[in-house]
Amino acid sequence: MTETYNYKVIRQFAIMSIVWGIVGMTVGVFIAAELTWPWLNMDIPYLTFSRLRPLHTNAVVFAFGGSALFATSYYVVQRTCHVRLISDKLAAFTFWGWQLVIVLAAITLPLGITTTKEYAELEWPIDILIAVVWITYAVVFFGTIIKRRTPHIYVANWFYGAFIITIAILHIFNNLALPVGMWKSYSAYAGVQDAMIQWWYGHNAVGFFLTAGFLGMMYYFVPKQAERPVYSYRLSIVHFWALIFTYIWAGPHHLHFTALPDWTQTLGMVMSIILLAPSWGGMINGMMTLSGAWHKLRSDPILRFLIVSISFYGMSTFEGPMMAIKTVNALSHYTDWTIGHVHSGALGWVAFISIGSLYYLIPRLFGRTLYSLKLVEYHFWIATTGVVLYITSMWVSGIMQGLMWRAVNADGTLTYSFVESVQAMHPYYMIRWLGGTLFLIGMLIMAYNVFRTVNGPKTAEINDTIPDPILAH
Ligand code: HEM
Ligand code: HEM
Repeated sequence: MTETYNYKVIRQFAIMSIVWGIVGMTVGVFIAAELTWPWLNMDIPYLTFSRLRPLHTNAVVFAFGGSALFATSYYVVQRTCHVRLISDKLAAFTFWGWQLVIVLAAITLPLGITTTKEYAELEWPIDILIAVVWITYAVVFFGTIIKRRTPHIYVANWFYGAFIITIAILHIFNNLALPVGMWKSYSAYAGVQDAMIQWWYGHNAVGFFLTAGFLGMMYYFVPKQAERPVYSYRLSIVHFWALIFTYIWAGPHHLHFTALPDWTQTLGMVMSIILLAPSWGGMINGMMTLSGAWHKLRSDPILRFLIVSISFYGMSTFEGPMMAIKTVNALSHYTDWTIGHVHSGALGWVAFISIGSLYYLIPRLFGRTLYSLKLVEYHFWIATTGVVLYITSMWVSGIMQGLMWRAVNADGTLTYSFVESVQAMHPYYMIRWLGGTLFLIGMLIMAYNVFRTVNGPKTAEINDTIPDPILAH
């Protein structure tokens, strides 16, 4: 019997998200170990920190996070529009195309093939493939919205839609380049314009890839798992427009005290501070969806993943505007404080909301009961301990670094040499490595639980015909 909705592509993306999560985090744990014990690169060029770091970021952001976004957006758009994806073939193309991009990244980055632009390291042939896959994704997603049987478009789809459109524009414009060989190109922009375009891209990769898409997840999976309608539909619309309008201006906070004109830096700073308001509006909307159902947190570890992710979202979107203030950035920039901020967003927000959503999805996609809720509980506590160790060690190390670098003696000489600051960071790097290892162990527990679930007895038909009650508010 063919299913009413196309769940095949969602199953594929959901499973691959877990697989790539484990791969990307294993590389993360390895590079964290390299920073602690540098001999681990064994003088093999493919294993050096410089080559594996972009492999880590690409694997966790685009392979793990990206696959989770594809899976959930295809699920949400079908469930809330009450129609099947417009084309199974195009949807399958997005799956296989995206996996090919990931495999090509995993080959080229350790070989040292890179454009050197952060989060846009892949060379031009892969960039073209990404553009084709992404435009196909847009066709499938918006085509399905156009064909919908419901009168209105549920807010989660607004966020997914903004994420899809913005990433297409950012990717295409930031990667405009002149190829001079199969694996070498030069950016179309020069000097400070190149930097400006790069961080317009980089910051909005955070704002739209790591935030807007995952807010789409929040607006669907939190109400579903809590069995409550979203706290305020009106707030969600204000949240949407305010967030997408403000994010796009904030990029220059990555370029404080550089050759970028001063007024652009100040504008970036001001827009970043304003960004706190829509970010927290969204956080409150997600959190308050639980009103009347707080007790569920006691017994439901999946809901706990989702709600704790929103708290980390609130935390990192408070920390970000603060770090965007020039005087604070003068201390935090180049230090581990930034790395701590990144991972409170990446592990606490992005990974937690994805994990919660995947635990919700997997049993429903396969018509099985989740193998063990107890294992989800273990996963939750191990992962939470891991994140806390990661980010607190980086805060301490980062602020210490910043203070050591700027300390001067009465005669104007530096109080500490650079090597002394590296030595001082060592214990914190060990703690970060331990935190990352715990997080990875949690992912392995999840993989085992999902494997047992998928291979367990079928307990239900894949019931995909019931209209989605999320709209009934
Ligand atoms: C087991 C979990 C993880 C570990 C151990 C880990 C470890 C690391 C390490 C050691 C770095 C390099 C830091 C430096 O250059 O000083 C890094 C960078 C980075 N990681 Fe992770 N990571 C993990 C998970 C994740 C996840 C899930 C994401 C995203 C969803 C992520 C996104 C990033 C990003 C964006 C950077 C670059 C940060 C920057 O340039 O400021 N990481 N990670
Ligand atoms: C209101 C929201 C936010 C603001 C204003 C903000 C601001 C900032 C600032 C000022 C930096 C440091 C730039 C530097 O000194 O180089 C930074 C770095 C970063 N933030 Fe945020 N942040 C926000 C939310 C988030 C969230 C939710 C995440 C993600 C998951 C995130 C991911 C990152 C990443 C990956 C970097 C490192 C970029 C790099 O240098 O490679 N941010 N952010």
